[in-house]
Amino acid sequence: MKLVATPGSPLNGEAAIPGDKSCSHRALILGAMAQGETRIHGLLESDDIEATARAIEAFGIGIDRAADGDWIVHGGGWRSPDAPVDCGNSGTTARLLMGAVAGMPGVSATFTGDASLLARPMLRVTAPLARMGAKIGGDRLPIAVGGMRLGGIEHRNVPASAQVKSAILLAGLGTAAPVQIVEPIPTRDHSEIMLGQLGGEVGVNDTPEGWVVELGQKRSLQGRELSIGADPSSAAFPLVAAATVPGSDVMVRGMIVNPLRTGLYETLEAMGANIELSNERIQSGEIIADIRVRHSTLRPCEVGAEQIPAMIDEVPALAIACAFADGESLIEGLAELRAKESDRLGAIVAGLAACGVAATADGDSLRIFGRGRVRGGARIATQGDHRIAMAFLTLGLAAEQPVEVDEAGMIATSFPAFTEVMRSLGADIE
Ligand code: S3P
Repeated sequence: MKLVATPGSPLNGEAAIPGDKSCSHRALILGAMAQGETRIHGLLESDDIEATARAIEAFGIGIDRAADGDWIVHGGGWRSPDAPVDCGNSGTTARLLMGAVAGMPGVSATFTGDASLLARPMLRVTAPLARMGAKIGGDRLPIAVGGMRLGGIEHRNVPASAQVKSAILLAGLGTAAPVQIVEPIPTRDHSEIMLGQLGGEVGVNDTPEGWVVELGQKRSLQGRELSIGADPSSAAFPLVAAATVPGSDVMVRGMIVNPLRTGLYETLEAMGANIELSNERIQSGEIIADIRVRHSTLRPCEVGAEQIPAMIDEVPALAIACAFADGESLIEGLAELRAKESDRLGAIVAGLAACGVAATADGDSLRIFGRGRVRGGARIATQGDHRIAMAFLTLGLAAEQPVEVDEAGMIATSFPAFTEVMRSLGADIE
């Protein structure tokens, strides 16, 4: 399915953004590792989360959808599945579940996925798990894991990856040995927060070497109710559209504003975007707030490598904002973008060029030479990447000519209602 975004209409109103993808994966997986029932409110319903739910069911875990839309996970009692576990397009599913299973004596499984996932690096997870004593190896799926009682580890999380940190923490739940992760640049801490919600214990210390994340002695989890806030990575698209389309004013309620996720919004503010946060509150251990973005003139930005983990999935959206700024933007430290669902760095540069915006990727730095206005009028190759598709449709709404994306089906991995939500704000996407 292709989609075309046509410029001209301002975006106004409240955007109904679904639950956060990272937290949704974790709620299902940790709920399945806990004893008893975990009731999840606001779970994202998308292909990636479906992949996690199906994968957990393959281990014998029961999952139901209640009449009110909540999801209920009946935790405990994992057994080995009969067939390879298909993680679809989802790196988080594969990496977190490999960690979980590695620490479960007597449970074993082989993990696989779609063509994009089969091409993504896994050694970053299998190497530290093997150092803990796990029966696991290899850099590409399919990968077999044989669960056992593991030893401890002290792992330096470089390149910065929340998935790697989470895999180690989940593996560590099955041992009493010391499990420590040192993060020179901190990454999203949703696993740590949710482990605390379910009765686990994770300590965090700020040291000269970085943040030291450590499992405490309480490592058995109890099911409970969890509520998931709106996903800042999905909200990025309507909110960048609001910042770039003249006359726009868009609100997202209850969005996760965990500071390890808000790099895009801080950068947009530094670019002169009109952003208002209100009603900050805590929900299931996470900070959420209402966020309102109105159109304004944007300046170019400079983003250093240490800022990237807090906006790793938002770089395509940020690149679109930079295209509309007048001047040269520089975003550094993007090597990891080449190992996402596609080579995102290459896809951003090629897409911007097709839309008449000069951009270069030099090593792991991205330069975008904005002129305050963007021609558009292009057909974008998404390379099967949901965030590239949504980013260039967003660009099309503020450009001079419509933008078409060649394949929009993958948007369902993270934000199935993207088109409806954008249309409800007044966007012309067909
Ligand atoms: C995620 C961590 C990030 C991010 C991914 C989700 C997570 O990946 O890009 O979309 O849920 O932990 P890395 O851990 O590979 O940086």
